[in-house]
Amino acid sequence: MNVSIAILAAGKGTRMKSPLPKVLHKISGKPMIYHIIKEAKKITDDITLILYHEAEKVRESIEKYFENINFVIQDLENYPGTGGALRDIEFRHNRILVLNGDMPLITKEEMEKFFETDADIVMSVIKLQNPSGYGRVVIRDGEVEKIVEEKDANKDTKRIKEVNAGVYLFKKDILKKFLPKISNDNAQKEYYLTDIISLAKDEGYSIKPLFVKEEDFKGVNSKADLSHAEEIMQERIKTRWMKEGVIMHLPKTIFIEEGVKFEGECEIESGVVIKGDTHICKSIVFANSVIEDSKIKYSTIGPMARIRPGSDIEDSHIGNFVEVKKSVLKGVKAGHLSYLGDSEIDEGSNIGAGTITCNYDGKAKYKTIIGKNVFVGSDTQLIAPVKIEDDVIIAAGSTVTKDVKKGSLAISRTPLKTVENFFYKFFGKGK
Ligand code: UD1
Ligand code: CA
Repeated sequence: MNVSIAILAAGKGTRMKSPLPKVLHKISGKPMIYHIIKEAKKITDDITLILYHEAEKVRESIEKYFENINFVIQDLENYPGTGGALRDIEFRHNRILVLNGDMPLITKEEMEKFFETDADIVMSVIKLQNPSGYGRVVIRDGEVEKIVEEKDANKDTKRIKEVNAGVYLFKKDILKKFLPKISNDNAQKEYYLTDIISLAKDEGYSIKPLFVKEEDFKGVNSKADLSHAEEIMQERIKTRWMKEGVIMHLPKTIFIEEGVKFEGECEIESGVVIKGDTHICKSIVFANSVIEDSKIKYSTIGPMARIRPGSDIEDSHIGNFVEVKKSVLKGVKAGHLSYLGDSEIDEGSNIGAGTITCNYDGKAKYKTIIGKNVFVGSDTQLIAPVKIEDDVIIAAGSTVTKDVKKGSLAISRTPLKTVENFFYKFFGKGK
């Protein structure tokens, strides 16, 4: 589309009370700014981000996900304020949509509504019961006359319930003409972008309000706002997946990050957390399991299992209190209480309760490789690096310190000793 998008993100975000730049705070696993850019990308390729505080950090984080974003550092000392932010920026297209970096819930659909209204400036307006903190919008005969910031408003103006949501569509000529004309003669000594409205109005340009829903234009200024935005984002993510055919039990208790993918009919029980780059295909995840950066296919996971990054699990059953990390399991049963890390386990193998792959010697990590049809008895420790070939039985309680050949039994046990009547000697006869 022939529109450029500018995202204002130079503010410090003081109210977040955090050393992390505001726009890098995460919502559903991705930085706030990620969600905005993702939607903006659906509209245009000309996206400019205006930064200042921790600019390098923000830029690095964005470049992990997106290409071809223009970064501009605001001259905050000489030109502070939202009007200062847009000075001297060259936009490719004739219309510029201005977004805020702390508005993670805005969608492509909401952005498109600005393009349906024909005016020199279209600006977002929300009607709020409690308008405090926002710039008030003075509307007359369906046109916006001016915006008055809370800090500059008198009593009467403060009563206005129509507020500026902070998103605008400008014609390029308007920005070119009026940006150099706004002054910083106000309570905050800042160059307010909003002052363009009255300047343009005075010269007869048309400025139309676009009434929008608070939910989509919610600004995140505090950690309470952050958690509220998270709830809305989660609701959207889960509703989308349920529409795609995923069954969710008590979805309010389920957390699914942006970027997780489901395929075919999957079922997710309550309390499940699925994070990162996880792909789940035709599988069931039972209650309170946690899965991160893994692939799960035709399998059942949990309840209360933890699948850590780099795992690839297919045709398998992973039961309660099993932790899997960076392991490839194909056709495996690990029903209870095990740690399987840096391992490869093949078809038909059964991992007994209490099995541990001892993958770390305090310095480095090593692999455990288990072939087909291996029966690993309960309470086995596999001291990696170690390789168990096909068709092996490992007796319960064994510590496996060397490779085991195909078809063998491996057993390491202290022989059992019994002392008759020891109980009675120790505790006495009793009843
Ligand atoms: C701004 C609007 C206000 C509106 C509100 C909606 C102005 C003058 N006021 O107020 O009418 O109701 O948004 O949320 O525009 N930013 C920069 N550079 C700066 C200052 C801010 O890039 O020098 C960025 C911030 O990082 C933020 C956005 O602009 O993403 C809005 O800034 P913020 O300080 O939150 O503006 P408000 O005072 O809330
Ligand atoms: Ca704000």
